[in-house]
Amino acid sequence: MRYGGWYQIAFERDLQADVSSVPVGDRRLLIVRSGGEINVYDAVCPHRGADLGVGGKLLDPRVLTCPYHGHRIALGGEGGGPYCVAKYPSMVRSGLIFALVGGFEIGKLPDMLDYLEGTHKIFAGFTKTIKVPPEMVIENAFDWAHFPPVHDVLKVEYGEPTMEDGVFTATTKLRVGPSMWQGTGDGTHHDDGTTFVEVPLLARAYSPNLTITQVAVGGGDHPHYVIASAVPMLDGTSTIRLSVAMPVVDGFAPPQEFADLMLQFESMGLEQDRPVWENLALNATPKYTAEDDNVLKYRKFCERFTLNGRV
Ligand code: FES
Ligand SMILES: [Fe+2]
Repeated sequence: MRYGGWYQIAFERDLQADVSSVPVGDRRLLIVRSGGEINVYDAVCPHRGADLGVGGKLLDPRVLTCPYHGHRIALGGEGGGPYCVAKYPSMVRSGLIFALVGGFEIGKLPDMLDYLEGTHKIFAGFTKTIKVPPEMVIENAFDWAHFPPVHDVLKVEYGEPTMEDGVFTATTKLRVGPSMWQGTGDGTHHDDGTTFVEVPLLARAYSPNLTITQVAVGGGDHPHYVIASAVPMLDGTSTIRLSVAMPVVDGFAPPQEFADLMLQFESMGLEQDRPVWENLALNATPKYTAEDDNVLKYRKFCERFTLNGRV
């Protein structure tokens, strides 16, 4: 896999046991749940490569026995004899499990999630598999020129992206037909362009694998947020996890139905992207135009997360 940085590696509800593993590109990450805490380690046994998440037994919160030859493996440090596996920085927020791959800076993602947990309610969303590299999924938020043809948007305005505190940020304003936003669109809307809804987006990429996008339907004061992450798989697909954070207004938590509506809308959007993504010639030599400027800047941002043998 090409890039590291923050990934959402699982939903907490997916954990079937106290010890499990998830693939992230050519790695396997071990998720250990113990004493109400969740920690993430390298899942490959240093003895001869067994997956510690498949049958590994926790002896105590920091030591596990390998299912293959029974060696004791120290989780993230000393205490397990000659063998230990590295710990990844990780965090769990509102049922979403994140891990930082490649030893890059922790950066601003934890602060952003703190903010969302303080002002919004985060609803764990859905998982989807699409045959596309993860960075293309994240790039989508910045590729303003694709919105009209792929997502049936009437008009797009866009701003100059910025890079601050390691976060790549860009604004886009979509003008959409009301029928589309209500989720009734079958891909062809019948609005004549005289009635429309403005949807300002403020997308922030925290890594080539994770964006949080502020969405203000109708330009309203209470935007919601879309948390999207894409994890590469060895078969060339990406596992996309998408959740929403809905605003808590005057102390009232938003109902699940609101979140479901937004999740449905986001799922529909990804299905519109799918046929293009799954048939992309990834090795074709592109001929960029000025319209691709934001995408090129995003790709430059991605290069900061190149793994190149980093652990
Ligand atoms: S592979 Fe883990 S103990 Fe042998
Ligand atoms: Fe898209």
